[in-house]
Amino acid sequence: MIAEVQANHMLILGIESTCDETGASVVEDGRRVLSNVVASQVDLHAKYRGVVPEIASRAHIENILPILRESLDDAGCDLADVDAIAVAYRPGLIGSLLIGVTAAKTLAWSLGKPLIGVDHVHAHLYSVMLTERSGKREASSEKEGKTGTDTVFSSGDFFEPAFPAVGLVCSGGHTALYRLNDWLDVQLIGTTIDDAVGEAYDKVAAILGLGYPGGPILDRLAEQGDAKAVDFPRSLMGRESLDFSFSGLKTAVLYHVQGVPGKNSKPSRVAPDLDENRLADIAASFQAACVDVLVRKIKRAVKLIGARSVVIGGGVSANRGLRAALRGFSLPVCFPKMAYCTDNAAMSAGLAQLYLAAGRTSALDLDAVTYSQFVETI
Ligand code: KG4
Ligand code: ZN
Repeated sequence: MIAEVQANHMLILGIESTCDETGASVVEDGRRVLSNVVASQVDLHAKYRGVVPEIASRAHIENILPILRESLDDAGCDLADVDAIAVAYRPGLIGSLLIGVTAAKTLAWSLGKPLIGVDHVHAHLYSVMLTERSGKREASSEKEGKTGTDTVFSSGDFFEPAFPAVGLVCSGGHTALYRLNDWLDVQLIGTTIDDAVGEAYDKVAAILGLGYPGGPILDRLAEQGDAKAVDFPRSLMGRESLDFSFSGLKTAVLYHVQGVPGKNSKPSRVAPDLDENRLADIAASFQAACVDVLVRKIKRAVKLIGARSVVIGGGVSANRGLRAALRGFSLPVCFPKMAYCTDNAAMSAGLAQLYLAAGRTSALDLDAVTYSQFVETI
């Protein structure tokens, strides 16, 4: 049965702390985001060019209470008005997850309200359903005209993906394809065997001496470059495979700028001195390789499961190259609004409404889990 959100002014308070963003959000009836507060730790991790788990958990401890307060204030409600507490309890960094899960359990227990543990990756898929107070998402043509990037591809005003759908979560920690029979029936059909695509963006940006996180920086640079300047490899893992591999592409960029190392030499830690045009060409060529692989895998998955729509979430779903490449796709393709691409608590609070309606609440001994649900590849 297709799970549906019942519109009865139910408020769910969501908590996010899986990696390096502390988030809290109040979502009404599973779709309307009344508040979405995210404390990013980017500045704390930037000098390490990646997330340092110990620093992340300490920052979550400092942030969690002020963030919760702010999200309730922004939503104009109090804890007493909230109907349930949702938390992303997997997958993620254990120290980080523990802060959010402990806060959620404490709130649920002390308020006597249901606790709902949500899979963070599944929530990334659901993020396409989120809208703001007005309750309506913009139709594709209007929105494309406005920004050219924050695009929803849909046939109607209020996007409802037709199931079965292909789901792609592409982020810093995940690159995974799913068969979505509905929001509560999510099957993994392909995943990365090494780096996630966002991780490749971050590492390539580090190789090029650019900032962190690398995705938005390379995305912007790519717009000024020639995507055909460098023919970077596209790893398709065989004719039928729905799995991904991005580490070879990352190494190809390293060798392209530093040369192939000799037998006894190591890659340099010093960023190469490249002029703006060359950097832009490398960024555009790298992005073209990433986007090409993602789009080809989506096409394979669509064919395999006979999908009726495509749903894309995660930090890399903000990528302009990816959005542009899927414009005019043979099926409706839905991206989240920009605010809900990267980690946030609204997506978990929204999905939790469906869990609640289906009676899928969690016990108060809910544990943080570092890995995603394992479902056999079909
Ligand atoms: O979803 P997210 O916040 O965290 C995870 O669950 O992993 O994704 C963060 C990732 C980072 O690797 C960042 O570089 C990437 O998303 N990202 C982008 C863009 N914006 C963020 N990658 C490519 N293009 C972008 N515009
Ligand atoms: Zn995420």
